[in-house]
Amino acid sequence: MSHPIVELKSVGKSFRSAGGAVRSVLEDVDFTLGSGEIVALLGQSGSGKSTMLRIMAGLVGADQGEVRYRGQPLHGPARGVSMVFQSFALFPWLTVQQNVELGLEARGVAPEERVARAEKAIELIGLSGFESALPRELSGGMRQRVGIARALVVEPEVLLMDEAFSALDVLTGERLREDILELWEGGSMPTKAILVVSHNIEEAVMMADRVLIFASDPGRVRFQLAIGLPRPRNADSPEVRSLIDEVYALMTAGASRRGRGVEEQPERLHLGDRLPQADVSRMDGVLELLHDEPFNGRADLPQLAEETDLTDDELLPLSSALTLLGLALAADGDITLTPLGERYVASEMGQRHEIFREQLLAHVPLVAHIRHSLEQAPSGELPEKPFLQLLRESMDADAAERVLQVAIEWGRYGEVFDYNYNTGVLCLPEADEVA
Ligand SMILES: Nc1ncnc2c1ncn2[C@@H]1O[C@H](COP(=O)(O)OP(=O)(O)OP(=O)(O)O)[C@@H](O)[C@H]1O
Ligand SMILES: [Mg+2]
Repeated sequence: MSHPIVELKSVGKSFRSAGGAVRSVLEDVDFTLGSGEIVALLGQSGSGKSTMLRIMAGLVGADQGEVRYRGQPLHGPARGVSMVFQSFALFPWLTVQQNVELGLEARGVAPEERVARAEKAIELIGLSGFESALPRELSGGMRQRVGIARALVVEPEVLLMDEAFSALDVLTGERLREDILELWEGGSMPTKAILVVSHNIEEAVMMADRVLIFASDPGRVRFQLAIGLPRPRNADSPEVRSLIDEVYALMTAGASRRGRGVEEQPERLHLGDRLPQADVSRMDGVLELLHDEPFNGRADLPQLAEETDLTDDELLPLSSALTLLGLALAADGDITLTPLGERYVASEMGQRHEIFREQLLAHVPLVAHIRHSLEQAPSGELPEKPFLQLLRESMDADAAERVLQVAIEWGRYGEVFDYNYNTGVLCLPEADEVA
């Protein structure tokens, strides 16, 4: 039985938004990372995954609950924990060797020992011969290897990888992932436990002994799935495929209240809720594809991902947007066209806009609120700023911008309102003025 290395007990974390409101980002998170395991963490953008990693590393304190490292309460950065980030975070004016040595310098390791240990880490990660290269002379994959060497050089007991592969192209990311698994299996890494945050379901299933699925607002562990397969795993094997299906099912569960075959509306949104980052033309594309052969109205999400070449973090928001708008129903890893969705696909452009408009006004309170406000405004025009401020009561500035952008894109498509990209002013559409 593995022993616990990092333990989170009922951990909570809140941040204060610009408007002064306190928002809970993590709530009641219970999680133990044990020795000998790789755990993958999946969850929507903004669900608090990076925050949880920072808490585990002791970089950020928890507001509630307990954080323990090797059984002791953690106060401040944990010495045995290293993090690898998505962005390479290398110093451009330092060589590979110097970049890797940095981690040791910070810990007061003597120069000769630094050199030797950095060389060893560089060799381990497959960068021998590039010690004196500068970051700009390296490919993205090699740069990320330098980042990993810098994390490994301190011989961490725990490695926390925050989307370490997602900035790389697919093949480079896969290669690096395989190399890390090989090091892990071969025992040449001092690391006893790894936690990877990923946006890629296949990556999670290929790497981990356990997959955690986070819920959003506030973030908490929603599901756990044990992956009892030996490594290396074959991505095309039936066992792996069926686990991937299962993860998709878990990630879409609750988008509806799991009524199999029953048409049910998803949970209602509130004004300040996030909207899925889904592009209208892609929604259109998915609906059409779903309607046609070979799907005929119903698809397995992993299969649809393959067919459309969309990544999980593109397809999942699309399917939740379609579910939200009542055009499709994503549940248990499948997505089904609703009768309204059928009607939408069969319609001409003008009618599609109209269906979209009705669904927006009925199911997206933010869009309805903007429309209503514009109708109240004497000039039929309003700056976007007050809407942004409203959103910032319940999320940070970046998220507020993103959510408003989605609302604007959807609203324009549904001809609910118009938007001037130069001035940031919202207005009623011209067609309305005539009418
Ligand atoms: N220092 C901070 N101050 C205020 N808000 C913060 C801070 N750090 C994170 N947040 C907010 O907390 C929420 C969770 O952020 P976090 O980065 O942990 O999410 P995530 O799951 O890692 O998302 P992503 O998948 O996009 O990386 C976000 O809304 C984020 O803006
Ligand atoms: Mg993150």
